[in-house]
Amino acid sequence: MNLEEAIRGRRSVREYTSEPVDEATIRRLIACAVLAPSAVNEQPCTFTVVRDAALLDQVSHDAKAHRLATASADPNLEHLHTMLRDPTVQIFHGAPALIVISARAPGPWIVEDCALAAENLMLAAYASGLGSCWIGLAQSYLNTPAGKRALGIPFAWVPVAPIILGHPKITPPPVARREPEVRWVG
Ligand SMILES: Cc1cc2nc3c(=O)[nH]c(=O)nc-3n(C[C@H](O)[C@H](O)[C@H](O)COP(=O)(O)O)c2cc1C
Repeated sequence: MNLEEAIRGRRSVREYTSEPVDEATIRRLIACAVLAPSAVNEQPCTFTVVRDAALLDQVSHDAKAHRLATASADPNLEHLHTMLRDPTVQIFHGAPALIVISARAPGPWIVEDCALAAENLMLAAYASGLGSCWIGLAQSYLNTPAGKRALGIPFAWVPVAPIILGHPKITPPPVARREPEVRWVG
């Protein structure tokens, strides 16, 4: 598969088989992630790999509770809150692995740096036949002391990109994109 095929074919996968993702594959994907550019070549990204299903269930439960406890009463978010109150919903979609990309410390470019690493990782995963999805719903909890403690993330680190990984059970249909709004100047 060439790069454009990977870019065009990658989808957020929300249904996985129970087949684990082996350590060598995860290491290879992380090796692709760290090749992303970073501001001033700071290379701030760290990777926390979680493959314990019970721990992922627990973190999902606690992240949902945290999200609900800190939510604003925005009626536009009611659909999301109903989903978060549903005890059958696991925010990691039952994936066998979670890779939390964190920065070693706060900084002006860490979100950009970790997001670029995340996209490299997700494209490399797709090119390897794996599915992935960024789980933004976990982010606020993972940035609390309890969330960091749960995953053994050092307190100084800043979790930016929680990425689930696994063998897709289905091929998700393409998600439509808006026509790009482009202005040609000159
Ligand atoms: C920052 C960010 C946060 C996201 N958070 C979630 C999430 O919490 N749960 C989820 O199922 N998908 C999440 N997604 C996936 C998006 O819903 C998905 O990328 C979008 O619908 C487009 O679909 P595609 O990735 O298949 O092209 C997130 C994506 C990004 C970039």
